[in-house]
Amino acid sequence: MIVSSTISAESAAMPAGEHHAHHDNRWWITKYVFSTDHKVIGIQFLLTTFLMLIIGGAMALAIRWQLAFPWAQIPWISEALFAQHGGQITPEFYTVLFTMHGTVMIFLVIIPILAGAFGNFLIPLMIGADDMAFPKLNMLSYWFMWPAIFCFGLSFLYEGGPSAGWTSYPLLAALYDSAPGSGFAQTLWLWGITFTGVSSMMGSINYMTTIINMRAPGMTFFRMPLTIWSMFITAALQAFALPVLTAAGLMLLADRELGTCFFVPAGIVVNNAAPTVGGGQTLLWQHLFWFYSHPAVYIMLLPAMGMVSDMLATMCRKPVFGYRPMVYSMSAIAGLGFIVWGHHMFISGMNPALGMTFMVATIMIALPSAVKVFNWIGTIWGGRIEFNTVTLNSIAFVSMFIVGGLSGIFMAAVPVDIYIHDTYFIVAHFHYILFGSTLFGVFGAIQYWYPKMFGKMMSERLGKIHFVLTFIGMNGTFFPMHMLGIAGMPRRYANPYLHEYLEHLLPLNQFMTYAAILMAAAQLIFFVNFFGSLMFGKKAGRNPWNANTLEWQAPSPPPHGNFDAPPLVYRGPYEYSNPAHPQADYWPQSEPPESAS
Ligand code: CU
Repeated sequence: MIVSSTISAESAAMPAGEHHAHHDNRWWITKYVFSTDHKVIGIQFLLTTFLMLIIGGAMALAIRWQLAFPWAQIPWISEALFAQHGGQITPEFYTVLFTMHGTVMIFLVIIPILAGAFGNFLIPLMIGADDMAFPKLNMLSYWFMWPAIFCFGLSFLYEGGPSAGWTSYPLLAALYDSAPGSGFAQTLWLWGITFTGVSSMMGSINYMTTIINMRAPGMTFFRMPLTIWSMFITAALQAFALPVLTAAGLMLLADRELGTCFFVPAGIVVNNAAPTVGGGQTLLWQHLFWFYSHPAVYIMLLPAMGMVSDMLATMCRKPVFGYRPMVYSMSAIAGLGFIVWGHHMFISGMNPALGMTFMVATIMIALPSAVKVFNWIGTIWGGRIEFNTVTLNSIAFVSMFIVGGLSGIFMAAVPVDIYIHDTYFIVAHFHYILFGSTLFGVFGAIQYWYPKMFGKMMSERLGKIHFVLTFIGMNGTFFPMHMLGIAGMPRRYANPYLHEYLEHLLPLNQFMTYAAILMAAAQLIFFVNFFGSLMFGKKAGRNPWNANTLEWQAPSPPPHGNFDAPPLVYRGPYEYSNPAHPQADYWPQSEPPESAS
């Protein structure tokens, strides 16, 4: 493994090596494969999500190809990969593709890269702990990803494939073999969801316990960096929302395999068998699913919000503007997230009075979101901004969040949502949040914490080229989707141009596909930068960015056990605007006040 050489070389050279020497007599397999070290587990999550990002991205390109050139063969690829589909993306295969694209990107890329990779790597380091509260549980949480990957992969390859979308609505998903592609593949897919749920649950329990119990002396809750606050709130969200999805998934599995009728109404006839007897509720699934999956949107966003806040503070050489309002607004976003799930069901036939309630609650989320945007701008305002890759990606995060947030207000309103429901407007909205916001935040965070992970710097030049091309490609791909949605183009159609009123949208779709290809090609630059910098990157010291938070007091990369000595904390990471301090832009949390003046 690539990680191994850098970590072992650095830890061997550690002056405080003898302090941790008893840990380091480990066999390499316990050190790098079945490791209980939170940093190794974080990097394992990171590399796994890279692999999944490539797979989910390839599926996205196949979808884009079909929408630009319906039924045309993909050069070089069709013959080899889609032979069983006659070298074409058939409507059935298209359905499987968008189901798996959503599944892979949500459950195997975005959630594990934020909570799994950065949560693991950063939480103990930023609170001054030597590891997680439950290191073995932590290891288990990573290894439970693999049965999930196995089930999803098998389900993709299994005859028919899963084709109920990532939302897996009954009746299609509840009735075994009721429709093409709803066979055993769908069952496997549900097992995959269950395994990712177990993995995330173990992570969230661990993160909450670690943050509550293992903070360094002096690190009060309101001396925690916003990254840690965001991870804490995310872990709480997962702990309260995930059991609902896992339980609902098991109920759906029971409907499929054991003949229960949680989601199946009476009188449904399948495969010429006798009509079902159960009096189940099809809509119950939507309630349970969205009770998890709306908070899940914040699980996929809040950690990036926290990390961007810290990156902007460091790169603008200013304290975060409005630290406590940032914490309160993240908590408000999380809390409100539990009472808005009905906005996914405005057209399901719910009582209009109920729809109104969900509409008001949803629009209220705009308030804490606006507080955050205002505070990020306040943080940048008047700062000595260093225009490096980290800053560019962080600012892209904020600006794309504004676009995605504004389109969110449109669909929160019942009258507008009835018009745009299940159109490309929705697809535009959530890609602005999940790609535009979260992934730019993640690219910035990788560039920012890479020196701490591997002891090397990533290339600034490659980072900037990657950023510019991704930014152009991303907006070129996703912005026109707003127009497609308003024009009435529905999502999940393999060939929307069969409808005469959508024919004129083909050229715009072709433009978007070219933009998507550009965006995908730009990621090659990112991978060259990431893996190339392991070998050719400039060596990094402990604190290459002059940041104030605790992780930068540890060696780069930190040895097993993290710190030379347990750090003492004297202040919050953003409490350095004291005019008495001569160098107000660098004042580490662990420096005693006496030496400050
Ligand atoms: Cu929602």
